[in-house]
This record gives sequence, C-alpha cells and structure tokens, in this order.
Amino acid sequence: MTDDKPARAGSMTALGVETSCDETASAVVRRSPEGRAEILSNVVFSQIDAHKIYGGVVPEIAARAHVDRLDGLIAQALAEAGVGFGKIDQIAATSGPGLVGGVMVGLTTAKAMSLAHGVPLQPVNHLEAHALSARMTEAAAFPYLLLLVSGGHTQLVAVEGVGRYRRLGTTIDDAAGEAFDKTAKLLGLPHPGGPSVERRAKAGDAARFEMPRPLLKQAGCDFSFSGMKTAVRVHAEALVERGGLTERDVDDLSAAFQKAAAEHLAARTARAMRELGEGGRLVVAGGVAANAAIRARLDAVAAEHGYALLAPPPKLCTDNAAMVAWAGLERAAAGLADDPETAYAAPARARWPLDPTPRTKAYGSGRKGAKA
Ligand code: KG4
Ligand code: ZN
Repeated sequence: MTDDKPARAGSMTALGVETSCDETASAVVRRSPEGRAEILSNVVFSQIDAHKIYGGVVPEIAARAHVDRLDGLIAQALAEAGVGFGKIDQIAATSGPGLVGGVMVGLTTAKAMSLAHGVPLQPVNHLEAHALSARMTEAAAFPYLLLLVSGGHTQLVAVEGVGRYRRLGTTIDDAAGEAFDKTAKLLGLPHPGGPSVERRAKAGDAARFEMPRPLLKQAGCDFSFSGMKTAVRVHAEALVERGGLTERDVDDLSAAFQKAAAEHLAARTARAMRELGEGGRLVVAGGVAANAAIRARLDAVAAEHGYALLAPPPKLCTDNAAMVAWAGLERAAAGLADDPETAYAAPARARWPLDPTPRTKAYGSGRKGAKA
C-alpha cells in the first residue's frame, strides 16, 4: 500500500465500511472544503450468488460472508485509492439499521481499525447514507424530497440539511423491492426479483389482470405493497387450477404487478410534492429506482409538479460504502461528528429511524420493520 496521494488543504478523507445487508463494501472518499466529492475507490462484493437458492437474503449466511470478505475489500479499497491509514481522517461504518449480525461485523472491524491506527470513528445511519448519496454526483442542494426504494426500505423523506430529516411516509407492510422479490419467487423467476420481473414485464400485457390501487383514499404518503403481491398470487393460483401458468401468463402478471407498483410509487410521491409545494428537487435512491417503468412514471410526476429529478448512478444508488464514507464526511463538515466516547459506544442496531419523531409510525415487524 502506498501513501502517495496528496490531500489538498482543508479536504478530508474517509474510509467507508458497509455490511448491513447482502453487500460487503468498502470505499475511500475525499471531500473538498467546498463540499465536492472525489470517490477514490468504491469496491462492492455482492453476495447474491450465496443467497440465490433461498430466494432471499439469509442473515446468518450474510454475516459469515461479511467476515470472510471484509478485510480483503478494505485492503483493496485503500490500495485502489492509493492511500494508507496515514492519509485517512475518519473511518465511517454503518451501525444500523440492518441485519444485526452483518452490521456487527462491519462496525467491530471499524472500531478495531480506528483504535489500531488512531483514526476517529464515525458510526453512520445507513438511511442517512442513502439520503445524502446524491450529493456526491448531483447538484442536490438542500432541501430536497427523497424517495428511497430498495429491498429493505420504501420511504419519502424531506431532507432539509445534514441531520435534518422529516419522514413523510413509509411502507406499512413490504418494501417495494421486497414485493418485487416475493412476486418473482411466486412466479418462479430468479432472485433478485426486480430485474427478473422487469424483464418479463416487457413482453406482458399489464391490462389483462386487475390489480389493487392501495391507500388511494388514505391521506399522507405511506405505501403498501402487500395487496398487489397477494393479487398476483390469487390470479396465479386461479390459473394453476385451470391447468398451469404459461410463459404468457408470467409475462402478463409481471407487467400488471410492475405497473401497479409504479403507479403507487408515483401517486404517493405526487402527494408529497403537493405537500411540500410545487417546484423543487426529487432525489431517487435504492435498487428499485433502476426500474425503467418506475423511472418513467417518476419522471412524469416530477414534470407535472415542476420538480427536477436527480438520480445518482446505479452504483451509488444501491448499497455501497462510498455513501457511508460520504455521510461521515458530511456530518464532520456540519460539526455533527460523534466524540470518541459516543462513537466507541455505538451499538449495532437492527432499527434506527432517520426521523425520531415521524408523523407516521412503522407497523409490523420483519425486514420492513427493522429498516423503517
Ligand atoms: O438498494 P438495493 O441494492 O439493496 C437494498 O435492498 O438495500 O436494492 C435491492 C432491491 C431488490 O429488492 C431488487 O429486487 C430491487 O432492488 N431491484 C429492482 C430492480 N433492480 C433491483 N426492482 C425493480 N426493478 C429493477 N430493475
Ligand atoms: Zn440500502
């Protein structure tokens, strides 16, 4: 490892660690005094293959895979950035919310590195990292509306500044990506479900099957995806009783589900825009934002309400450690860095709401509950 990348005066460099779900990741990011980001490295090891046969993420397998991979990935991130610990000003690690075994692996590793190298530790809220990630590549000045749609979260958040988040809505059952994954599993499509459903939906007729329009009459910006997932199951079971699912049926059911999900996301986002006022910025993040049909619906809603749609590149939208390093740097620049005592006492947290006093409560339990 070399230490030849000179830091500019006043800039700060962070090493990021992310292990909250099924991506093991490390990155080195530098922030200029003016707030510009330079991603010096960003390495992600996706565990998808390890979980594929189970049709979803298995927490114990995820934690073990993080243990196996993390050290190597951190070394790789530092090597690709061309820096050693001597040039690192902060170690930022996700300390929740997420699958707690995995979070523990990353956070404990970060604590050990911090102590061994005398570099300050910054525990990071994974949701805050998603919320701020667009600011690395886009002109996302505060305030903006964030739509975070992934396998673990579906939230609308008014981002007013670093550390100032107002949750306008969250899912009352499944996360959007989770609903895609479960729908795919039901239709016999490979994991991860989102891209599989999108692929099949291309050839499908979305109008053939009737789908519910959740929470249509309900005020606020909460989401619900379990009804449309159940509708797919009911339609599929009826077809199976009549002789089995054809390829055409799978295409049409995929298209119906995707359209219902896109309409629902757009309708709730439009509500949040009306609440916040016309004209503004909409930032989308999370794996589901990669879906072209969903992106098109959000584009239309943004145009209708005079909003600019900002989407970080997919690599920064899905789980990664550059966003964790960046959140640590943003906190430090805003004077919100933890003191050492608080940082070392930080626990690995399954739940950690971004907004401690949300207007709407998270319901239920499970993955959604843990991440809401
Ligand atoms: O943000 P992400 O990589 O990880 C977390 O869940 O935090 O999101 C993964 C989720 C999965 O549920 C996956 O099925 C979904 O995003 N996804 C998609 C698409 N690509 C990924 N959903 C719909 N359409 C896609 N093209
Ligand atoms: Zn995430």
